Amino acid sequence: MSPMDLQTKNKYQTLHLGQIMGDILPPKTILSLEGDLGSGKTIFVKGLALGLHIAQKITSPTFALVQIYSGKLDLTHADLYRLKEKEILEMGLEDYWRSPLFSPSWILAIEWGDKADAILPTLEKSISIFHLRFRILSKYSRNINIEGPKRWLNKIQTSWQKS
Ligand SMILES: Nc1ncnc2c1ncn2[C@@H]1O[C@H](COP(=O)(O)OP(=O)(O)OP(=O)(O)O)[C@@H](O)[C@H]1O
Ligand SMILES: [Mg+2]
Repeated sequence: MSPMDLQTKNKYQTLHLGQIMGDILPPKTILSLEGDLGSGKTIFVKGLALGLHIAQKITSPTFALVQIYSGKLDLTHADLYRLKEKEILEMGLEDYWRSPLFSPSWILAIEWGDKADAILPTLEKSISIFHLRFRILSKYSRNINIEGPKRWLNKIQTSWQKS
């Protein structure tokens, strides 16, 4: 795991980063999206949906807890902002990586994912985990720190530089 930093200058660039990642990330991927209110986590997920060829509109799952969309891979979008630790433990997010009955073609994007740190798997080889930390630099610019398996970070960086 080695981190990388990207800067986006407007929301379309953040959307584009999501699209790049949706396009290249493998099944059984967890994206923990961390960072301040309004820093771009939901915009990123909208981009992810574009990259996954999801036609439905992404809405914030703050009240629905999770929303599931089908595309090239099935995207589950969770937002833990309003949830207490106990509620997070009871959500059953672990089914994704624990239950053998689950279809493996999933990608899980968790806003405020740092609140689920205690339950996220750590050393499971078949699962790719990324931490994306969003930081507001100014009205329209964001720093996005991405930590994850090096092989995929390299691919993301290559696509990002080309675009
Ligand atoms: N470079 C940028 N990347 C992403 N969003 C940007 C950028 N510049 C400005 N914005 C604006 O910042 C806001 C980001 O909102 P978004 O809902 O994606 O944040 P969030 O991190 O999901 O917040 P919350 O924690 O409330 O869920 C939008 O209003 C968007 O237009
Ligand atoms: Mg959000």
